[in-house]
Parts: sequence; structure tokens; C-alpha cells
Amino acid sequence: MGEKKGRVFSGARPTGRQHLGNYLGAIRNYVALQDDYDCIYCVVDLHALTTLKDTEYLREWTYEMVLDWLAAGLDPARGTIIFVQSHVLQVTELHTILSMVTPLGWLTRLPTFKEKVRQQPDNVNYGLVGYPVLMAADITLYKADTVPVGVDQAPHLEFTREIVRRFNAIFGPVLVEPQAKHTDFPKVLGIDGQQKMSKSLNNHIEIAASPEEIRQRVMQMVTDPQRTHRHIPGRPEVCNVFTLHRFFSPNELAQIDADCRTARIGCVDCKKIFARNLTEYFAPFRERRAALAADPNYVWDILAEGARRASAIATQTLTEVKAAVGLPPVR
Ligand code: TRP
Repeated sequence: MGEKKGRVFSGARPTGRQHLGNYLGAIRNYVALQDDYDCIYCVVDLHALTTLKDTEYLREWTYEMVLDWLAAGLDPARGTIIFVQSHVLQVTELHTILSMVTPLGWLTRLPTFKEKVRQQPDNVNYGLVGYPVLMAADITLYKADTVPVGVDQAPHLEFTREIVRRFNAIFGPVLVEPQAKHTDFPKVLGIDGQQKMSKSLNNHIEIAASPEEIRQRVMQMVTDPQRTHRHIPGRPEVCNVFTLHRFFSPNELAQIDADCRTARIGCVDCKKIFARNLTEYFAPFRERRAALAADPNYVWDILAEGARRASAIATQTLTEVKAAVGLPPVR
């Protein structure tokens, strides 16, 4: 790894094909950060086990997500490491060690934990409580100083920082205290115009969608709820389609804004423009994705190489950690 500003680490649960929310909120950022940082991106399959009832899709979802990442521009040839969390076992060792300096109250007080308890009262498993400890292990194992995550992850990042300070205060300055780097893009709503875009709500648009799929999904999008008839002027500031136009239609934005407010165009017209621009924007992406998918081993080869490189860094950190803690070395 070269002369960069620092080291980025981020993790994402394997959720399969990525959608516009993933793209605008995370992937686009992951790609851009490669210019200035050594980047490590991890598919956190162990974290996914804390909430999944159904694990039969983990392989497929890992594959589809990483294929999207690569087609979007994450590039191991530029030094970026992409790997699967469970392929680098050292993280579970560090997790165990960090768990010994984690007061249980810190974990059960976290708003993210309380939310999960509300969501799955019948499955409040041990791993769920320890979720932030595993995340702290992810980040600190690679001595990352910069962690791009959504604001929803801010409590977890704060937790990681506290654990690092505590560990270092007890055992000496071994771990690096990371900084969160939140994206500027506002929350991306689903085609329902109400809730955050998410695969589980089926209100999403996949970035790998075909032009026909894009058209169908876009035509279902909810616009300004007051604009119930074609002749009623619209309010772009409350319209989810317009929010996305900001990103995908920068050159037409003023025109669309004016034409909507004066009812010169209707919502169907506006959506047609959006579908067209979205289709165009992701055309090179779709091509690269298809080309990469032609070799079914490609993604797995990238992940195997990523695991080897990640493991080398992990082993180094863990050796330092164990020595600092005082665990006896082998022989
Ligand atoms: N908890 C994160 C999320 O749900 C995923 C994650 C796991 C992560 N480990 C991480 C993010 C390390 C950043 C760094 O989005």
C-alpha cells in the first residue's frame, strides 16, 4: 500500500444486488475514497448471522454484492482489499479479547441494540449484544483510521472509539482510534416515497436493473401526494423523484423544477426523464458487470486474494495485541 492519507475500513452486510440507496449512500463513496486512502472493504457475513433467520442466500448475496462493487469501480488493482469477514478468522480472536474490556452496560444501552430487541424480541442472541464488539474488532484489526458509514452507525463508531481508548489505557497504545466519515447524501427513500430504500421493504431499484426493470420501478414511484391530477402544479421539494433528479439529472434540474411547478410536465413525463437518465447513468456499469460475471470464479478469486492480504495485516496486529495483553506466546 502506498503514500495515502490513511486507511479506510468499511463493512457491509451481504444483501445481494445493491440498490440506489446503497449506491448513493455508500458505494459511490467507497469508490471515491480509493483516490486518497488505502481501502479495505469487507462483506460482514458474521454480522449478518445476528439477524438472519434464513442463511441459505448468504453465498449468493455475497457474490452479487461484490460483483456490484467491482463493476461500480472498487478496484483491487489500485490496492483496494475486498474480502469476506469470516475468511479472516483473526477477527474472532480480537473480538474475544476486546469483549474482556467491554462493560456489558455499554452494549445494552446502545440505541442500535434496543432497536434490534424491538425488531426481533424472540431472537435476542448473544451475538446481537456483541455486535458492536465484533465491529470494533473489524476496524481495529486493520488499524483503520477512517470509517465511511451512514449516520445510523454513529453510535457503533463512538463505541469503537471508547473501546480503543479503554484498551490502550489498560494495555498500552496498540490500537488506532478511528474517525467516522459520514456521507453528505440525504437519506434515499424507496419508490413508496415514505420509507428508506431497502430490499426487505421491496421499495428499491437495483443498480443492475435492466432498462425495462428501471422503467417499471420508476413508473411506480410515489411523487408529491398533493399532485393528484395532471393539471395541479407540483412541489419538487417534497417529491422523491425530484430528490433523485438532483443527482441523476443535474443539467435538466432547473427545467424540471420549473416545468413541474407550472404543471407544464406531469409526473409521468418527469419519471420518463428520470428513467432515461438512470438507464444511461448505469449503462457502463451494466456492461462491466456482465463482463465480470462471464467468469464465475472472478469474484471468488478476488475475495480469496483479499482474504490473504487482509490476513497478513490482521496477524501483525493480533501479535501486538496479544503481547500487550500478556498472553503467553506459543512455545
Ligand atoms: N454495522 C455495519 C452496518 O450495519 C456494518 C459493519 C460491520 C461495519 N463492521 C463494520 C461498518 C466495520 C464499518 C466498519 O452497516
